[in-house]
Amino acid sequence: MIYETIVTTCSAHGEVHIAPFGVQWSNGKVVISPYKPSATLQNILDTRHAVLNLTDDVRIFAAAIAKKSPFATQEIAPGCVRLQDCLTHHVLKLDEMEEDEVRPRLTMTVVESALHGPFMGFNRAQAAVIELAVLVSRLHMLPIEKINQEMQYLQIAIDKTAGERELEAWQWLVDTINNHIARQSGLQQA
Ligand SMILES: Cc1cc2nc3c(=O)[nH]c(=O)nc-3n(C[C@H](O)[C@H](O)[C@H](O)COP(=O)(O)O)c2cc1C
Repeated sequence: MIYETIVTTCSAHGEVHIAPFGVQWSNGKVVISPYKPSATLQNILDTRHAVLNLTDDVRIFAAAIAKKSPFATQEIAPGCVRLQDCLTHHVLKLDEMEEDEVRPRLTMTVVESALHGPFMGFNRAQAAVIELAVLVSRLHMLPIEKINQEMQYLQIAIDKTAGERELEAWQWLVDTINNHIARQSGLQQA
């Protein structure tokens, strides 16, 4: 089972990095599998730490993928930050890495956890934003017809169940797709 989360890391120089990751739990430990190259991977190798943030604010997923300004973070310890607004955070320490040319597997131990807010229940629009964010993160690999087709279906959940945060996140992703299409057609005409 894969849980969609936000992983916050710091570089060796202290720069904060925020990225969505689908993680797995295995025997009480967290497994993160970043495709190379990855700033998150490099930061974890440099600092041996990451923070797993669980949030229902899907704008944080969309902002990372649409390259919007990053959401606020809070320092927990030197070289270790969490999202300021999240429902739960877990501080992770690197246990072992299974090396792979394409996608290494990092197993991390939870060293500290805290709950900050309640889970309000499932929301279809939030799930739709996450689905579209995954598609947009693969925009360079997927045919645009597939993206348009999936977007049309996901739009139903947005229209029926979105709140303001979900609408904003959705729009950032739609803008990213439209910019990509405009760039592609510009390239074809040139
Ligand atoms: C919901 C969601 C889940 C993702 N899960 C992964 C993942 O498990 N591994 C990965 O390499 N990228 C994943 N991505 C894409 C990364 O967030 C994105 O490519 C990011 O830039 C990772 O590279 P970075 O560490 O250099 O930031 C996911 C994206 C989304 C929207």
